[in-house]
Amino acid sequence: SAAVQVSSVMRSTNKSQQRGDKYSVLLPTYNERENLPLIIWLLVKYFGDSGYDFEIIVIDDGSPDGTLQVAEQLQKIYGEDRILLRPRAKKLGLGTAYIHGIQHATGNFVIIMDADLSHHPKFIPRFIEKQKEGGYDLVSGTRYRGDGGVYGWDLRRKLISRGANFLTQVLLRPGASDLTGSFRLYKKEVLERLVERCVSKGYVFQMEMIVRARQLGYSVGEVPISFVDRVYGESKLGGNEIVSFVKGLLTLFATT
Ligand code: GDD
Ligand code: MN
Repeated sequence: SAAVQVSSVMRSTNKSQQRGDKYSVLLPTYNERENLPLIIWLLVKYFGDSGYDFEIIVIDDGSPDGTLQVAEQLQKIYGEDRILLRPRAKKLGLGTAYIHGIQHATGNFVIIMDADLSHHPKFIPRFIEKQKEGGYDLVSGTRYRGDGGVYGWDLRRKLISRGANFLTQVLLRPGASDLTGSFRLYKKEVLERLVERCVSKGYVFQMEMIVRARQLGYSVGEVPISFVDRVYGESKLGGNEIVSFVKGLLTLFATT
């Protein structure tokens, strides 16, 4: 019976857990009350099925819709070792939300994704497999390769995204197909080093991260993803963000 016990323990402990790999998922939220229960349920489901160790770090920026109270309820359901709450008092921007979250991550890998269900957790096992396959420093979800795509955006939004990617490709030639997407997996020490060098704070942060990664010679793997526009709530990407993206791009172009 001892032998039976040992073999069943071995079966439930996969290789990644034996190596001690742990994945910290950063979920920045601003007014995501309706989306948070579902995204967390899906994360727990896909991580549970794949057997990888994980934690979810919710970084709420004082959402007026009560997102933090919903997150507290979810923490009671799933446990404090799975759901970590690292809120901030007010809306301080997406870039700094990630930086704040990384400081609390206990995993050796960090996954960054949106909380509004535009990024489906079903892709995460593919990110992890891809990373292991090539030992990549970062794995980037791409909407612009293979069977990746965008669903539900109007023409204006598609043009903004394509335009931002095209301009960046032309000016900086970073050699990755999706520069503005934010669904990515990083080795934690790589992410920390990249963050130290990044000057931008808003949405342009994603682009700067992958450009800097290439400059520093980090290896980048890509996984095609489908990005589905949110059903609940609204995008926080406004005219200001577009202006600051172009400014950030030109700054990078001038300084690198
Ligand atoms: N904590 C915090 N603070 N979270 C924020 C903030 C903020 O200031 N602004 C946005 N968020 C959260 C949202 O709640 C959501 O979970 C995620 O960040 C993405 O915000 P959205 O407003 O849904 O972004 P989007 O759908 O317009 O933009 C997506 O596509 C862009 C272009 O491809 C994001 O993936 C962007 O990162 C990406 O650049
Ligand atoms: Mn969104």
